[in-house]
Amino acid sequence: MSETPVVTETTQTLVDDTVGQIMKSNTNKLASFGKNLIRKLLTTSATTISIGIVSVLAYAIYRSYRRSKPTNASKYQVSLDSYVEPDIGKSKRTKEQLEEIQKRLDEFKLSDEILQQIMDILEAEMEKGLNRGTHSEADVKMLPTYVCQLPTGKESNDILALDLGGSNFRVLFIRLRENEEPVIVNKVFIVSESIMKGTGEKLFSHIANCLYLFMKNHNLDMTRTYPLGFTFSFPCRQLGLSNSILLRWTKGFLCSDVVGEDIVATLQKYIDARGDIKVKVCVLINDTVGTVMSTAYYDRKTALGLILGTGTNACYIENVDRIGILESYVDPDQKQMLVNTEWGAFGENGSIDFIRSRYDEEIDKTSINVGKQIFEKMVSGMYLGELVRLMILELIDRELIFVDEMKKNAYRHALFTKGSFYTKYLNEIETDSNSKFTRTKRILKELAGIENPSHEDCAVVKCICMAVTKRAAKLTAAGLAVILKRMNRAECTIAVDGSLFRYHPRMQAVVEKTLTNLVSSLNKFKIVLSTDGSGKGAAVVAAVAVENDPIFK
Ligand code: GLC
Repeated sequence: MSETPVVTETTQTLVDDTVGQIMKSNTNKLASFGKNLIRKLLTTSATTISIGIVSVLAYAIYRSYRRSKPTNASKYQVSLDSYVEPDIGKSKRTKEQLEEIQKRLDEFKLSDEILQQIMDILEAEMEKGLNRGTHSEADVKMLPTYVCQLPTGKESNDILALDLGGSNFRVLFIRLRENEEPVIVNKVFIVSESIMKGTGEKLFSHIANCLYLFMKNHNLDMTRTYPLGFTFSFPCRQLGLSNSILLRWTKGFLCSDVVGEDIVATLQKYIDARGDIKVKVCVLINDTVGTVMSTAYYDRKTALGLILGTGTNACYIENVDRIGILESYVDPDQKQMLVNTEWGAFGENGSIDFIRSRYDEEIDKTSINVGKQIFEKMVSGMYLGELVRLMILELIDRELIFVDEMKKNAYRHALFTKGSFYTKYLNEIETDSNSKFTRTKRILKELAGIENPSHEDCAVVKCICMAVTKRAAKLTAAGLAVILKRMNRAECTIAVDGSLFRYHPRMQAVVEKTLTNLVSSLNKFKIVLSTDGSGKGAAVVAAVAVENDPIFK
């Protein structure tokens, strides 16, 4: 039997699929988080409003005090606005040391000119990907999805869905009814490291087993055949909605004997082999597609989907006559199709090496997919914490940070272990107060046993985190700008999902600001956080696919 540890179970219309990937510090915390979420939301709103009012008043009083009475109490730029970078220039370090630190931070800066240059290269790569003659050498594959219509809101059926793409794997049951809010029952299972890097057989029998347990525990009618939509967040060459060949694994997955296989057929084989459940895998979609579909369910202007979580990717509505690589028949009435860009692979041919830092190179060299997913390694949640850690290590090496601490405890710290600096720490550090650095100090103590980091050291750590996330946000915006320009719509809703975008305190603001600078005011856009794209999105695509199939009535 496969391992089946359960993390959360919820029955609601709003479910977060990626919360476990980056925000997870332990599964128990998450389990109680999931169970208590709705209760807390209901009971705390009044308290939150009161605290909010008191905080705003306190802040206003503080600001007027600061304006009227200049302070020299601190050598640092202290601000209640936690998004202001702390001023590391007023520390005890020598001018040369400060320059050394600044030089490293500058490696993450991207001017508007450079962003424009990156956009031009990405645009050319996308064109190469769409074109039959150049597709094989393109690193941005621009994969057709065969999803040609947005949902109407009239879809109706009881659908099972699977969502695989990170360290958690979900099984969902979705009840779609016309003019009713979908009901979603959701259960999260862990996909252990040994499954992520084991055999395909181990992975697919685990998936089929989780599906069986879910159906049994929720008393689904075992005599009936359910349609299933699979959100499989890896690059697939699709020949239709239910025909998807895995091109490569990305993120932390490396299961043997699966690349080159048809994922729908493989999953169906493992489900059927059990003999105890009746499920028909009807569609396979990428998570970006799910994000667009679930948002379009309410907002018909949705034409672009972004994932910024463990990995990064985007899909958008393209004109069918511009997709030169279509291999299967498409009804001539269908003039548009969602294209899965797989932009995480951008830069594999060296085209963006001029913006890569030595830390990016190091991350790539020690990854399980060397030379692959170059853009993703600069932008997504799986790598940002590690980028910060590598930069801190270099500063330690050069005696530019934690100098006293290292003398006491040299090389006994967890900080020296790959992957120990979680991306979720960036969220906390970047919102820490520049006057006390309480959270930064706690993290440094927990993570690295650094008991007494100096104020200056904390300021440097915060600046590193900010530099790393700002670059990620700007690169994301550049990618979105290319697509917005390509679609050239007067108005476009961008549907977004992924833990990095959802939980990082200023990711959305920086993406929005940069994007506004990069696109014409004639291409208006609105960014909307998608709710449960991988569940609802897969369900609506599956509902349409089986609409006329009598076995699912
Ligand atoms: C990786 C996958 C892609 C997915 C993205 C976000 O880049 O290759 O298919 O959409 O992660 O999960």
